[in-house]
Amino acid sequence: MEYAATITGTGSAFPEHRVTNHDITSKLAASDIETSDAWIRERTGISERRFSKPGNPDEHNSSLGLAAAQKALEMAGKTPEDIDQIIYSTCTPDTIIPSTACWLQHKLGATRAWGMDLNAACSGFIYGLTIAEQFIRTGQVKTSLVLGTEILSSIINWKDRGSCILFGDGSGAAVVERAPEESPHRILSSHLLSDGSLWELLYIPAGGSAQAATPDIMAQNLNKIQMNGREIFKIAVRTLSTFAMTALEKNDMTVDMLDWFIPHQANYRIIEAVAKRLQLPMEKVLVNVDRFGNTSSATIPSMLDEAVRDGRIQKGHTVLLDAFGAGLTYGSILLRW
Ligand code: UT7
Repeated sequence: MEYAATITGTGSAFPEHRVTNHDITSKLAASDIETSDAWIRERTGISERRFSKPGNPDEHNSSLGLAAAQKALEMAGKTPEDIDQIIYSTCTPDTIIPSTACWLQHKLGATRAWGMDLNAACSGFIYGLTIAEQFIRTGQVKTSLVLGTEILSSIINWKDRGSCILFGDGSGAAVVERAPEESPHRILSSHLLSDGSLWELLYIPAGGSAQAATPDIMAQNLNKIQMNGREIFKIAVRTLSTFAMTALEKNDMTVDMLDWFIPHQANYRIIEAVAKRLQLPMEKVLVNVDRFGNTSSATIPSMLDEAVRDGRIQKGHTVLLDAFGAGLTYGSILLRW
């Protein structure tokens, strides 16, 4: 027997410390790198982001994940013991081993669950939700906890004004549960793709097993983000549009049937360009990049949580999630709330 998977609870969490564009401008000025609040707002739509306090255990990746997970469980009316599976998307884990999923499991007390980390960069929540859906569909898992959590402040390249202005820290979580196969409230379809040939557009050269982060390497910031923003921008607009259409076509739906579109929040101009391509009014597009910057795999679940909690997303609404990220990775999910 096959089942459907449905999201029954969402949660999100951000560090307390707000970092404005003026703060970034001052920080870069100390290294003689020029930027401005006006440039950042105009070219990215970002006004501020949150950074966790280095060394503060309450703002470790798994701690933000814990806060988001607890809120999601509360909304779903579930306890940690109800969770069978934790899929934890992050490219900034607490530690390489154990996985951040295991840290979270321990902190949460989800003693019945198995968990693992997943790195698909900014597409990670879409990949994670897809994995959870597959386990639930086959009946192997009843209740899954899917997270996207990042401490991108730990990998920002402060020598590169084109990328350091974009990123922030945060977490989003979703409780995903088994539903009857024909339930109207379910994940309708998901669509994933990776293109590793484009690795050079967004990567961290050192700190993995291929290249150690020696003092010399760190002095060159090669253990931090290297990004070709202009090229990614073009690819992002194209692939977000394509993956949105693929999901709609798979379900015999058209753009006007969408209630809400939640694209990955990397740059307001990317979001606007995709909406224009899809001929989707911006009123149907959910945006938090202005307040939180690009939090990678946390952007979509945190945006989803905000819109569920403030009542914009209502039971029966059709919602399209759509992402791209380092890898490069792409993915979309169409769901009925
Ligand atoms: O999760 C996925 C992660 N990444 C992305 O999605 C990145 C996508 N790309 C972008 O968001 C944009 O390409 C950026 C925000 C990174 C850059 O914006 P842009 O409008 O594409 O600028 P650009 O790279 O074409 O650069 C235009 C100018 C350059 O100066 P010149 O060569 O024209 O004199 C840059 O040096 O803007 C300059 N510039 C800046 N100026 C002030 C680049 N960064 C800054 C800055 N402040 N922070």
